Amino acid sequence: MNREIEVIILAAGQGSRMRSKLPKVLHCVAGKPMLSHVINSAKVLAPRAIHVVVGHGGDQVIAAIDDDVLQWVRQEQQLGTGHAVAQAMPNVQADSLILIAYGDVPLVNSNTLSALLATADDTTLALLTVTLDDPSNYGRIVRRDGEICAIVEEKDADEDQRCIDEINTGIMVVTAEKLARWLPQLSADNAQGEFYLTDIIALAVADGMRVQSCEPNSVMEIEGINNRLQLAAVERYYQQQQACRLMLQGATLADPDRIDVRGTLTVGEDVFIDINCVFIGRVSLADGVCIGPNCVIENSTVGQGTTIKANSVLEQAEVAANADIGPFARLRPGAVLADGVKIGNFVEVKNTTLAAGSKANHLAYLGDAVIGQGCNIGAGTITCNYDGAFKHQTTLGDDVFIGSNSTLVAPITIADGAFVGAGSTVTKTIEPNQLAVGRGKQRNIDGWKKPAKG
Ligand code: UD1
Ligand code: CA
Repeated sequence: MNREIEVIILAAGQGSRMRSKLPKVLHCVAGKPMLSHVINSAKVLAPRAIHVVVGHGGDQVIAAIDDDVLQWVRQEQQLGTGHAVAQAMPNVQADSLILIAYGDVPLVNSNTLSALLATADDTTLALLTVTLDDPSNYGRIVRRDGEICAIVEEKDADEDQRCIDEINTGIMVVTAEKLARWLPQLSADNAQGEFYLTDIIALAVADGMRVQSCEPNSVMEIEGINNRLQLAAVERYYQQQQACRLMLQGATLADPDRIDVRGTLTVGEDVFIDINCVFIGRVSLADGVCIGPNCVIENSTVGQGTTIKANSVLEQAEVAANADIGPFARLRPGAVLADGVKIGNFVEVKNTTLAAGSKANHLAYLGDAVIGQGCNIGAGTITCNYDGAFKHQTTLGDDVFIGSNSTLVAPITIADGAFVGAGSTVTKTIEPNQLAVGRGKQRNIDGWKKPAKG
């Protein structure tokens, strides 16, 4: 059987135990709403549609996720998981295979979902189950002669059933035809007065279907989030997985428990990452890159052999090979640094390119500038790029020397080999190899009396 797939993600619950104004499924794991993690795993399966059932905070969820691929379904009243799935059924095509997933179970792996899909067919319902040391609060898997025959919710279970340690993760695959047949048969005649999706298991068995279980690789995959403790546990697990992946790809982590990856980090071989670094969005670190402690690197690329020292912050920056950045450097969007560039402490670089070997070692602001090769930007240099209304460009040729504490008033061009005396305010073009001195002359006054009281 090769049916097309549709995914139904349940996300209508209130999540009151989060104690939050934010709908539960918008709380983030690794910087991304937990619902987005589930959607991304679902997309890997190339389904013909992904339906997301929303209720509490539905408008907020739809606005935050903002993905045209999704089909949003409203469940105005939360009458149970069976009722939630039923709300999506009018949008589902009759010949699809349906995967049911949950917006608050963020780490479910697409491989696990694929295995579950491969298990289901016209006569088999596939159910993801796990065996837990402490099965409390979960629905229990009831087997007869080894075959699954029902799920019983904890609140409806008798004492024997509560001892069952195989539990329902809630994730299952079944044909749309069967779902459409069974959902109208659900009743709310149970301890919680809800239409339980889990009751379709007994209906399936009564219909002569087989219920086949699959297990995930890790129980963390099926961990549902109800409170912020569980959110933190899932976050740590996710980060540990990232750390393992990075180490196997050739990165040494000073402490695998002190790295946070909130996006996609790619590393070459022999990368070293010190403690407490945060990587956001798409970041790539080439072979031999060394990142000092407490760096935050967002949507940036770092070339081979470059060192980023402690407490540096990079955002949308491109750093080529063998550069030396920080400590305490700030590279803002549009910072493009060529091979061997050196950016030292308390230097801010925005929308500025520095060609090979140029240096700004201390305390400078370089904004909207194009800087040639081999330049030396002295301590305290400021590009005055903003006139209160517009931004203007500063252009430096090759081998320019800017003395300390200079202000370069843009728009300004300083040609190859020019030299600016310390403390200058530069407002006029400097021609090649000229020395520019733009400062008041020093006067030394004899016999001056210090101000004194009384
Ligand atoms: C459910 C299962 C239980 C399973 C457990 C796994 C049922 C009846 N029980 O129990 O067997 O062990 O999940 O975590 O299915 N939701 C809606 N609309 C509703 C009700 C729920 O969208 O009307 C969504 C919730 O937002 C949540 C999910 O469905 O994402 C599960 O609901 P929840 O109330 O947490 O079910 P459990 O009681 O945990
Ligand atoms: Ca739950």
